[in-house]
Amino acid sequence: MADVSTTYLGLPLKNPLVAASGPLTSSLDSLKQLEDAGLGAVVLKSIFEEQIELNGFAALERAEGFLGHTEGYEFVKATSMEQQIDAYLALLEGAKRSLSIPVIASINCYRDGTWLDYARRFIAFGADAIELNYYVVGADPETEGRELEKQFLQLVRSARKAIDVPLSLKIGCSYSSLANMLRRFDEEEVDGVVLFNRFYAPDVDIELMKMTQTRMISGKDEYTLALRWIGLMSEEVRYDLIGATGIHCGDSVIKLLLAGAKAVQLCSVLLKEGVDSAKTILADLHGWMEKHGFEEIEAFRGKLAKTYKGDGSEWTRAQYLKTMLEAQGN
Ligand SMILES: Cc1cc2nc3c(=O)[nH]c(=O)nc-3n(C[C@H](O)[C@H](O)[C@H](O)COP(=O)(O)O)c2cc1C
Repeated sequence: MADVSTTYLGLPLKNPLVAASGPLTSSLDSLKQLEDAGLGAVVLKSIFEEQIELNGFAALERAEGFLGHTEGYEFVKATSMEQQIDAYLALLEGAKRSLSIPVIASINCYRDGTWLDYARRFIAFGADAIELNYYVVGADPETEGRELEKQFLQLVRSARKAIDVPLSLKIGCSYSSLANMLRRFDEEEVDGVVLFNRFYAPDVDIELMKMTQTRMISGKDEYTLALRWIGLMSEEVRYDLIGATGIHCGDSVIKLLLAGAKAVQLCSVLLKEGVDSAKTILADLHGWMEKHGFEEIEAFRGKLAKTYKGDGSEWTRAQYLKTMLEAQGN
């Protein structure tokens, strides 16, 4: 049987399938099911910096009228925020006690701030790594892209200083030069970058003429965005690149590994088809490796990454590739 073990942010993994942060990683029961289904690691549901603050303020609003002085307000706000952190710590502690695979804590943050404190506490409770899920929409026409990037890099710098376990970033793709950003994360010495997060997008219900959201579950062709960028960048950075979004089957896992991904994160397929779909994906990976005579993942990982294929135009200009293949009669 082929050896599908790998490492993820330096952590040993029995296979490259990681359960992405989401509904299935928010309770101990489903975390155990994920381990039983064969997942190599789990990323806990994110704790949202913004939500913690909002809940703190909501608790204040509810308490209005009962509180006569500033210390009282501060106490109510801090207690509500503390309860959320405690719940997260309890989940983390339970997961560390019950699972034998790596458990990664996830923090959704949008500015340099108090979340660094949470990260330190998660590490004290045994988190094997921290994933920062960073999300900012550049919707202010007054702010230059350069300024937003500077803020993000500053946040990464603070995180790296404070976090002494492996650190990964989970990002979107909206940068004018994503390749440059990915290189700059290398300078900040992160251990991995997850390409890409899939954010809810606004949509409109035309009958009700109201705002709604796009569907939560990804489509099975959405993996190509990560495929392109991992193919282009896996030989350019020292940290691990991890594929995410739209990875629903063994074939897309193999494609991402060929492009140079160290591992992949799965969410939608586990929600839609059940956690046991991971078993099918693993069986397909084993089957393919055996068919092609690969005994271990490193024997083929990155085989199609940019460096091995020249100038990378296959990864940047799909149209050009189509023309070339047609010229060769394929
Ligand atoms: C219902 C739902 C909740 C999610 N919650 C989080 C979250 O808390 N933190 C996070 O980083 N990603 C979250 N995600 C994003 C997933 O981790 C994943 O990156 C995304 O769904 C793309 O992967 P997929 O195509 O395998 O679903 C969530 C996704 C879904 C569908």
